Parts: sequence; structure tokens; C-alpha cells
Amino acid sequence: MIDIHNHIVWGIDDGSSNEDISLEMGLIAVSSGISDIIATPHCIPGSFENYCGQEFDEAFFRLREKLKQERSTSRLNIHRGMEVFACETTPQDLESGRICCLAESNYMLIECEFGEDPWFFRDVLGALLQRGVRPIIAHPERYYFVQDDTRFIFDLLNMGCALQLDSASITGDFGRECRSVALELLSSSAVQLVGSDAHDTATRTPDMREAADIVARNFSVNYANLLFYENPKRILSNRTLLFRGQSPSGGRSRPSSRYMSDEEYWGV
Ligand SMILES: [Fe+2]
Repeated sequence: MIDIHNHIVWGIDDGSSNEDISLEMGLIAVSSGISDIIATPHCIPGSFENYCGQEFDEAFFRLREKLKQERSTSRLNIHRGMEVFACETTPQDLESGRICCLAESNYMLIECEFGEDPWFFRDVLGALLQRGVRPIIAHPERYYFVQDDTRFIFDLLNMGCALQLDSASITGDFGRECRSVALELLSSSAVQLVGSDAHDTATRTPDMREAADIVARNFSVNYANLLFYENPKRILSNRTLLFRGQSPSGGRSRPSSRYMSDEEYWGV
């Protein structure tokens, strides 16, 4: 498996607080079958201002060195990434090089306030797409506007965004609401990626095996493989992400769901 969303870099956000915790998170990752982690510290103006630069790079360098020193984690590959918080300055921050994509690709992991205005979020995503970035929406199942009405998410998919669920939403660790929205998005084939969004070694760990099992049992092994391995691997080589049931050469494609009027949706 490849984890594209993980707060394993210590001391710069609300994830790992020190190097021992990062090492233990690395151990959990390796023992649960993860070969690569794209480390994605938060970049949130006013709270975790982890913009690109020397300090940011050094935090990754220290993490790689620490993991390399230990035999058990020496083969774990750490890639540089960031979880960008959508705000008014996001397009300018991209242009000035203050924010970055995942593992030198064109894919940017982007989150928003749980109670964000969906139209504002859509504008930010549109501005990124215009500038050649392919946004990956982090944990859509946790946003209130998605929980209220999942139809909005299909507009974002049609624009060219991808969806990444948190493994803890699939297992139910974030509660019933998140789990049911996650399963609904999975069953409509709207999801392209799952990440651990690991923050620690106790409650939000890098172990994604239970979530992968649930997807394999409830849907298919192929779908689990797509979400936990094939599409994450495609990010590492900056290739196009696939939808469930779509072959690399084309074939069946995007989810059939689309934005429906209230009348169509409610059948009135
Ligand atoms: Fe995160």
C-alpha cells in the first residue's frame, strides 16, 4: 500500500509531536504493508504556516534520516507533500511557490473548513484547476456540506477534482455519519483514493488494513487495490487517476452520478 496523506513529520503541525512518535508511526506503516508515504503537514494560515522553503525541507530531511537509521524502517520511502487549507490566498500562494503538490506531481491535496461554504471551496478548486493543478479533496466525507447533500461532490468531480477518503471514516472511527457518507461515495464509484491521515500512534495511526479489508469485502479486491495502491502509485509518477471499473487504456469511465435537481433526487 501507498499512503498519500499522513502527518508523520514531527513538530510542525498537530500530527507527530516528536521524533520517537514519527519513528513508531513509520514502524506501524511498514508492519501494516506500506512501502511509501507522502508526508502531508497542514498548511493553514494563522495556525500551521508550513510554507515551502528551507525550514520545510529540513523537517522532511530530518524525518528521512531518522527512519533510515533504523533497520526496520530504512526501506520506507518518504515523499514530500502538503495538505493545503483552502483560503482566499490559495491561488496566489500557488503562483508564488509557497504551497506545493504531492511528491512533485501536479496533484494537490486540499482541505477546507468542515463548515465551509461549498461555493467558496468550489471557486478555490476552480482557480487551482485553471492553473494546471489537479486538486485531490481530502476527506470530503467529513465536511458538513457533503454530509448534508452528497450531490454537490459530483460537480467537483466533473470539474476534474479527485476524492480521498480517510481510512478512519471507512472503519467508523469518525462516527456513524462519516462512515455512511464514505460508504455512499464508495458505492457510487466517486472515490479514487484512501489515505490514513495518520496523526499519532494511538487513535489515528497509519494502519489502513481494516479499511482496505472493508472495501475488499463490501465491494471488491480490485476496488481496494485501486484506492490503496494503484491510484496512489499513479500520483508518484504523475499519471492520470482511474475510476472504479476504468481500464488504464480508457474503457468504462467516470461515475454515472451527476448533479440532479431536487425534483429528480427526491422523485417528486
Ligand atoms: Fe490531514
